[in-house]
Amino acid sequence: MQIRQIAPFPQDFLWGASSSSFQAEGAWHEGGKGDSVISHTETEAQTTAFDEGVDFYHQYHTDIGLMKEAGLKAFRFSIAWTRIFPQGVGKPNPEGVAFYHHVIDELSAASIEPIVTMYHFDYPQHLVDKYGGWLSRRSINDFVTYAKFLLDEYGDKVHYWITINEQDHITKMPYRLGILGKTYSESMREEYQANHHMVVASAKVFNLIHTKYPGTEVGPALSYQVYYPATHSPEDTEAAMDLSLLTQDYLLELQCSGRYDPVFRHYLESHNAWPDFPDSDLDYIKANSPDFIGVNYYSSDTVAYMPANGDDGEIGGKPVPSYERGIYQKVRNKELPTTQWGWTIDPRGLKLSLRKLYYEYHLPMIVTENGFSEEEEVSPNKPIDDTKRIAYLGDHIRAVQEAISLGIPVFGYCIWSFTDVISGHSGMNKRYGIVAVNRTNFDLKAMNRLPKKSFYWYQQLIKKGAY
Ligand code: BG6
Repeated sequence: MQIRQIAPFPQDFLWGASSSSFQAEGAWHEGGKGDSVISHTETEAQTTAFDEGVDFYHQYHTDIGLMKEAGLKAFRFSIAWTRIFPQGVGKPNPEGVAFYHHVIDELSAASIEPIVTMYHFDYPQHLVDKYGGWLSRRSINDFVTYAKFLLDEYGDKVHYWITINEQDHITKMPYRLGILGKTYSESMREEYQANHHMVVASAKVFNLIHTKYPGTEVGPALSYQVYYPATHSPEDTEAAMDLSLLTQDYLLELQCSGRYDPVFRHYLESHNAWPDFPDSDLDYIKANSPDFIGVNYYSSDTVAYMPANGDDGEIGGKPVPSYERGIYQKVRNKELPTTQWGWTIDPRGLKLSLRKLYYEYHLPMIVTENGFSEEEEVSPNKPIDDTKRIAYLGDHIRAVQEAISLGIPVFGYCIWSFTDVISGHSGMNKRYGIVAVNRTNFDLKAMNRLPKKSFYWYQQLIKKGAY
């Protein structure tokens, strides 16, 4: 759609950046923290990367100082559930509770809006050992108890809450549910049961916030993207539609409308993965929907039909499935450049995603993650010249502005990530930050903070309030 006139960003637009507890904090066994399902074996780098993180636990004061210098209006971070309740439930850990008060208070003192994710992949290991974690319906109450504790403790200081980060990714990576030694296709029944419990738990937290904590707003953060058909063929078009349904549309439809899409239901049933639940769940979910949608966008995918070849239903690819025979396969899009990791660079895909989401759900949105990864050498004397990151971020911010100009309500944009953090699967080799941290996979060094060129670029952009 041609844009008549580019609209300015709203005055109160939340120019932000993001991180998560397990990727940033470190201090794995300090301050009374309990264990989560994320272990240091998760990264291919085979290091103790998550144990030390990038030391946010000890260096948050420095980091928030840098956020202030950059002029950030918002910082999205997650609370480590096991820092609050080391066993997932039971007695809260005063040191952990105090830590997040310090973080939130420092942010507020720097006029930076805290956007708090309650759960970003690091589920308490104890709950998995006790009753199977999300696989059991008992998990719903434990999540709500944890959320209620956070709201009672920090609710008067935090306006924006995010319940769960990238629930579909949790669902499709069994080890993040505490299921070990099984692939996605081997544990689908359990995964979609867990997925259902997460949706009910989120609806209960939406209800809690709407009834008891007026003045706060809540939503999920979902990984969202566009899927282009590889050719004009109807088969490829249907494959693209299917992959969008299987990775994101099913979840939004369930979370925002309390409805399992019939085609998705058909898919689950044909894989013997339809979850058990009382009918009343769907009415409850429908009556308790989010206030906004957090959108994590990095790239788009292109999809072709994949014939069954007699191996109907074989699912493969890492870390999340990239093909399923008889349904779809992801293919390379020759029109689009990629990062070193083969992720397409597609700013227009962000605009399309925001348009599609608004068309379907009519909710305000915030871009909760968007960022560019690269292997980078950190030197103490010279800021990293990350021109490719600047171009990526600028083009995506422009795409958000175009969406706003078309009338789509987007109230913020958070770069992933503020400092470099430990990448989920590639450790410190894959850096996203606008501030470098001088550790590597194998050498912790002093973990000093060194702003990259993109830091100064973002500072100027925020100052102008425009791209
Ligand atoms: C999102 C997650 O999926 O993508 C982040 O919410 C993650 O936790 C980010 O780090 C980038 O993924 P990766 O694997 O490149 O670090």
